Amino acid sequence: MAATRALRIGLIPGDGIGREVIPAGRRILEALPASLGLKFSFVDLPAGFQTFKDTGAALPDKTVETLKKECDGALFGAVSSPTVKTPGYSSPIVALRKKLALYANVRPVKSIANATRPVDLVIVRENTEDLYVKEEKTYTDPVTNKRVAEAIKRISETATHNIATIAGEIAQKRQKIRDNGVPSIHSGPRVTITHKSNVLSQTDGLFREVSRAALAAFASSKPSVAIDEQIVDSMVYKLFRQPEDYDVIVAPNLYGDILSDGAAALVGSLGLVPSANVGKEFVIGEPCHGSAPDIEGKGIANPIATLRSTALMLEFLGADEAAARIYKAVDANLEEGKLLSPDLGGKASTDEVVNDILKKL
Ligand code: NAI
Ligand code: MG
Repeated sequence: MAATRALRIGLIPGDGIGREVIPAGRRILEALPASLGLKFSFVDLPAGFQTFKDTGAALPDKTVETLKKECDGALFGAVSSPTVKTPGYSSPIVALRKKLALYANVRPVKSIANATRPVDLVIVRENTEDLYVKEEKTYTDPVTNKRVAEAIKRISETATHNIATIAGEIAQKRQKIRDNGVPSIHSGPRVTITHKSNVLSQTDGLFREVSRAALAAFASSKPSVAIDEQIVDSMVYKLFRQPEDYDVIVAPNLYGDILSDGAAALVGSLGLVPSANVGKEFVIGEPCHGSAPDIEGKGIANPIATLRSTALMLEFLGADEAAARIYKAVDANLEEGKLLSPDLGGKASTDEVVNDILKKL
């Protein structure tokens, strides 16, 4: 038997239902069979609005230090944003993405088997630049004496190359999983580059050109990835009309943000959709949903987005078999449809859903 691999995982529950779903991630890691050769240890780390109120820092330095020095990966729940502008507060997950160089946001969106509208796609969103560099200014136009606001949209060759490359890798990996017998609606791997280069010929033009060049390597290696492209507005239209046409979608930050929330709507609940923030050295699994104050404390939050984010984290840590086990157990729960949380029309509590999935593991 291969040597056991020790993995230390930082747990950052954050606020609201983050505190109810992150324990589910820990439980499923602890429940993985020893035969997979993984041994987990955990460290609880504070961040979020409550932490800000308690300590004055939304993301304590100690949290970042512990992640960098001690951890192999992490799970992040969700944080609440203050409803009024609060001096000194800024989002800890946005800061973590920067501090740990997590340049890709990977969001798989998948319907259950036999869904009337099958969806099995991954949005690979650039996580560091584009309009989200937040370089904005407002000035008064001397002619009209009215205000004008401007924002920088920055697209670099380096970040684009990195994001297109990981999109190509993900496409090939998904095909290898299908080749191993996991059923799929796709017959082969495909990456669709999303842009608006017909209008933004320099910024999105560069994204298109550099993505195409980076992906050429994946078209000419095995399994050969088909490369196509789609202007972002017609992409939205087609995504909603024919979601089954898409396998991997690569997009600059803003388009990727919008497309991924839209794609989540195709599968019925935010409580199902996972993500991973991926860098060359670190990965953070994170459910796509927020802190859901409307259901906080009721014990009914859907844990599946977190369980799938946990599996996704494992994939990027190279533990594919363990990840596949989790995906399969989750799918079995959804396909059976007996123990579902209220967002999916069921009556089960968070714990009942987790227990059912652990049983199926
Ligand atoms: P939300 O995602 O928290 O909730 C939207 C709706 O979906 C709510 O009705 C909620 O009950 C439901 N929902 C979300 N996750 C669910 C789950 N696991 N199971 C069952 N139902 C679920 O978004 P909202 O309400 O816009 O934001 C609430 C707070 O979360 C805000 O303070 C917002 O800033 C923050 N937020 C944080 C994010 C993060 O930490 N990454 C992302 C999005 C929002
Ligand atoms: Mg968003």
